[in-house]
Amino acid sequence: TGRFTYDPGFTSTAACESKITYIDGDQGILLYRGYPIDQLAEKSNFLEVAYLLLNGDLPSKPDHDEFTHLITRHTMIHEQLAQFYRGFRRDAHPMAIMCGIVGAMAAFYHDSTDIHDPQQRVIASHRIIAKMPTLAAMAYKYSIGQPFLYPDNSLSFAGNFLRMTFGVPAEPYVIDPVVEDAMEKLLILQADHEQNASTSTVRLAGSSGANPFACISAGIACLWGPAHGGANEAALNMLREIGTPDRIPEFIARAKNKDDPFRLMGFGHRVYKNYDPRAKVMSKVAKDILDKLGRSDPIFDVARELEHIALNDPYFIDKKLYPNVDFYSGVVMSAIGFPTSMFTVLFAISRAVGWIAQWTEMMEDPEQKIGRPRQLYTGPTQRDFVPLNARG
Ligand code: CMC
Repeated sequence: TGRFTYDPGFTSTAACESKITYIDGDQGILLYRGYPIDQLAEKSNFLEVAYLLLNGDLPSKPDHDEFTHLITRHTMIHEQLAQFYRGFRRDAHPMAIMCGIVGAMAAFYHDSTDIHDPQQRVIASHRIIAKMPTLAAMAYKYSIGQPFLYPDNSLSFAGNFLRMTFGVPAEPYVIDPVVEDAMEKLLILQADHEQNASTSTVRLAGSSGANPFACISAGIACLWGPAHGGANEAALNMLREIGTPDRIPEFIARAKNKDDPFRLMGFGHRVYKNYDPRAKVMSKVAKDILDKLGRSDPIFDVARELEHIALNDPYFIDKKLYPNVDFYSGVVMSAIGFPTSMFTVLFAISRAVGWIAQWTEMMEDPEQKIGRPRQLYTGPTQRDFVPLNARG
């Protein structure tokens, strides 16, 4: 390949150095700043994890309180930004709204778009983390025709989001601690995942010097695809379509058939060639929330049976295909009460922390330069222009 290495899909190219997240795909290990994901999900909370990803260490108690204060003071959005929603159709996909509205933040928060000012970068990161739940809940409220709810900063990050999404002004909203806990875990599990497609998109956009709101909007667009964040929506739709365990073999056969484009959604991963550690925690969160809410969900039973059958099938064994985080997250989000169209939006709320941490790391790197991949040109060689009337 001459002067360049040809690496479509970047399967063997490291595009940056990073101190944020470590993955060992063969062993199924995921660490945020050195801390195992299962410990963080079990013992931490989302804002503490956000602080960790952004700053490199777990916060002291005063740092934790200050960070919580800094985030919560940014939870409201500019009233004029709220007007944007009315321009969308009511049946717009909330991810389409998120792409537009987050990018539009650059038009409102001019004092945090100077990427060369470290203080402005910090304020931008706080604004993005704080406002994502507000913007996401508004997208949902708009779709169902209910009034927007202002944030309540006395609540936890997850609790505030749940209230803005499911509460109504007419009556107090009582947060179920079981649901709140599941929500926090869901957010922690998806907060960062090193150089995945959307994070690489954010870094590439940022490498040109674009402002952080534009970069995060680019990340949201990339996350939307079904091979990435959109897999959670696709996975639940698939489980619903399968419906009952007796139909599983039919779908397994389709996934194995080379002539059928169908894939088991929520299965397989570019890096994990072992069980995705997030899926392990997520399946437990799914079981817990259903048990604690006293519900049974046939979809969860289908998921467990499908996993069992696939993990014992030579096709999936040989290709090292295991459930990924998206396989069970849909069961959890559905148990909480979210429609499938909101699933990837929840992923975006969580991943925004990783995006902004990675963007900040890149901006602080003195060696940072614009991302500019090369190509192998396979088009025509040089030829002379032929005027229109002389062409055949
Ligand atoms: N069902 C059936 N076969 C599969 C699947 C699947 N879900 N995933 C991969 N394969 C097969 C694929 O056909 C290929 O077979 P062969 O070598 O015979 O051509 C082999 O396994 C390798 O697949 P690949 O597409 O070359 O691998 P990749 O690293 O490019 O893709 C992936 C990784 C996640 C895009 C892919 O596994 C997939 O499409 N999975 C379903 C979508 C999904 O769950 N995505 C969420 C990923 S995790 C969360 C996130 O990133 O947001």
